[in-house]
Amino acid sequence: MSVTFPEGFIWGTATAAHQVEGGNWNNDWWEWEHTSERVREPSGDACDQYNRYEEDLDLLAGFGFNAYRFSIEWARIEPEDGEFSRVALDHYRRVCAACHERNITPIVTFHHFSSPRWVAARGGWAWPGTAELFARYVERANGHLGDLIGRACTINEPSMVATGGYLSGAFPPGERDREARHRANATFIDAHHRAVEAIRSGPGDAPVGICLAMSDYQAVDGGESYLERIRSGMEDVFLDALAGDDFVGVQCYSRTRVGPSGALRPEPGVEVTQMGYEFWPESLEATIRRAYDRSGGVPVVVTENGIGTDDDTRRIEYTRQALQGVRRCLDDGIDVRGYVHWTLLDNFEWAEGYRPTFGLVAVDRETFERRPKPSATWLGNIAHTGVMD
Ligand code: GCO
Repeated sequence: MSVTFPEGFIWGTATAAHQVEGGNWNNDWWEWEHTSERVREPSGDACDQYNRYEEDLDLLAGFGFNAYRFSIEWARIEPEDGEFSRVALDHYRRVCAACHERNITPIVTFHHFSSPRWVAARGGWAWPGTAELFARYVERANGHLGDLIGRACTINEPSMVATGGYLSGAFPPGERDREARHRANATFIDAHHRAVEAIRSGPGDAPVGICLAMSDYQAVDGGESYLERIRSGMEDVFLDALAGDDFVGVQCYSRTRVGPSGALRPEPGVEVTQMGYEFWPESLEATIRRAYDRSGGVPVVVTENGIGTDDDTRRIEYTRQALQGVRRCLDDGIDVRGYVHWTLLDNFEWAEGYRPTFGLVAVDRETFERRPKPSATWLGNIAHTGVMD
């Protein structure tokens, strides 16, 4: 049976500057790639999107999408404390303009995992003063771009940066310090509120929100209280801070089973993706419902959902099931405004390097040639018609 989506639904793909642009040597991730043993390989030239954005936008428009979510790189825009680069800002202005020329809404993320080296040197997100520095950068960047921004995401997955950077140690600065992780969560919330304020008082009238990493948490054998503990630091602390936001970005890939002493490995018999998580497309529906309930009805945009796989037929199946869940949410009156797929291009998957392939489009690692996969045409067609057969 075919499934129809509302008129005006946002259909897009997402990327992040550090994962696709190439040459982002001035941020904490680049340094981490060259010093940590936990990173598989450095990002290098990535997908050279800094130079190839027009080609990528042509592809996106050609498939049938109406939105593109990308991030602007703080380390390029403010390479040293208080020194802003007009050239970098002009570049991102051209990217936004190139979206509009193709009837694509630019969804701009101001922070997607990477921070300038000078910010990291001052204490990064575990230092409360970073919130103010972030707000100054957002005000400046939005002042230059705001009239062209279609939708603004302040921060991408703050829980991942705080937890990866200060608890698990997989992200820079690779610490394991509960207190620092706690402070990082708080700094992000403060930074988000300041950024909302800065964006609203500048040019343009883009809806503003934050993008949250969510998982379908499921308690197993008495894991309820452990589950609550994990979920409160990963999700609730942020979901409880959204009052007044225009939307919340829900980003979900899988479920997390939690037993009495912590998160469990994948359940035997369940398909596992390249990232090691379970193939669990139903998780999107569960997290949309939870974000909407817990936030007291803030409108939802799915700002990331996808799968790392080398079997494109599984990507299509995953996305089909995820979209059926979105439709059920709409049927129940949940205000879901759009679906943005992670990701346009096979790209630099952080500590995992280039091994996991989440893209609708493959990228030749030598020549950067783009090769669309069948899933690009399949999803683009749904985007274009609003109908999934
Ligand atoms: C994220 C990340 C992306 C990842 C994606 C796949 O926001 O988690 O935004 O950068 O590449 O989630 O793991």
